[in-house]
Amino acid sequence: MHQQVSPASSVSGAITLPGDKSVSHRYGMLASIAEGVTKIANYSGGADCQSTLACMRALGIDIETKDGVVCIHGRGLDGLRPAAAQLDAGNSGSTIRMLSGILSVQPFSTTIGGDESLSRRPMQRIIVPLIEMGGRIEARENRFPPLTIHGGKLHPIEYTLPVASAQVKSCVLLAGLFAEGQTTVHEPLRTRDHTELALREFGADVEVRGLSITVTGRPKLQGRELRVPGDLSSAAFFLVAALIVPESSLTIRGVGLNPTRSALLDFLAEMGARIKILDVTSEGGELVGDVLIQNSGAVGRVRGGILEGARTAALIDEIPVLAVLGAASEEGLIVRDAAELRVKETDRIATIAENFKRMGLAIQLHENGFEVPGRQRFHAAELDSFGDHRIAMAFSVAALAADGPCIILGADSASVSFPEFFGTLQRVTQS
Ligand code: S3P
Repeated sequence: MHQQVSPASSVSGAITLPGDKSVSHRYGMLASIAEGVTKIANYSGGADCQSTLACMRALGIDIETKDGVVCIHGRGLDGLRPAAAQLDAGNSGSTIRMLSGILSVQPFSTTIGGDESLSRRPMQRIIVPLIEMGGRIEARENRFPPLTIHGGKLHPIEYTLPVASAQVKSCVLLAGLFAEGQTTVHEPLRTRDHTELALREFGADVEVRGLSITVTGRPKLQGRELRVPGDLSSAAFFLVAALIVPESSLTIRGVGLNPTRSALLDFLAEMGARIKILDVTSEGGELVGDVLIQNSGAVGRVRGGILEGARTAALIDEIPVLAVLGAASEEGLIVRDAAELRVKETDRIATIAENFKRMGLAIQLHENGFEVPGRQRFHAAELDSFGDHRIAMAFSVAALAADGPCIILGADSASVSFPEFFGTLQRVTQS
């Protein structure tokens, strides 16, 4: 699908966002291995999270959706059944990596694959710890999907992550849930902790000490009622839209504000963005609140900044849209330590650079990052998602500040995390 996006004179109004993608995946998987019914409100309608539900259904779990609430009939730790065919994780790295932890401990074998993009993404990072736990996994060229996972009894391990990855941490913790004893993961940097919080909600024993997380195996997980907070990574597109279009004022209600995710708000505030957070509450162990952003003529451009080290890791999903903001800022944006961008749904350093070139925007590339000068003019162009949801949405936002209408090729890829994106964008933009 091609989508035209026209320049905007203001971004205003109040919106709510689909449920957080990371939290939805975890609730979907844990509810399936818990006992009894779990009802999940605001579960992400994005294709990625639907892939997780489809995989759980194929493993024998009854799931229905009533009045927007996903109802999962959990069958307990030992209740999954062999799938009749290869599981399809679609475009979703979270599905294949986290579910592999659960599949490794089943008394049956499963093959799981995905689309062309997923088939190029590195799986060694989960294969190594699962083999250390006693798992048996075959992969294309030993590192790419599809994976054939020969399930069996695994033993607990203590594992130090070589890359800061919440998906890998979660994979090991989920496998550890089924092992007798305690499994510990040491992280090099703090990554999103939704798995730890969700495990506790379902009744598991999880201990967090600094950067080490320990889960005790064979807990009794209990189904429950949950609500998924709005996705802060999806909010990022609208926050940046409000910052690059003058005379904007936007309220985003019910957004997840988990401290391992909210570095975005700190970074924007440091750049000089006027952001307020109201009505913070806690739901299922996750902080949730309303985010207000204002950009009147008096505030003008944000300053720009540098992303490196732990901050790059914390903002890795937001970097495409922050690159756009950087080009509109006073001083530009420098991104370092972002090698992981090369192995996302696309090589995001390359796909950001290509779209910058098409809009006549300067960018200097490095192996693990890039530099974007500030105060640039955005020219109308034909832009390309390259099938990557975050690239589609980041450059739709860039188009709002262009000197004429832009076309986004492959705009439908936004539906991987945010099917309502273009409708919501249209509702809050005034031409
Ligand atoms: C995610 C973790 C991150 C992130 C991805 C979702 C998760 O990936 O980029 O969009 O839900 O755990 P890595 O674990 O590869 O860093």
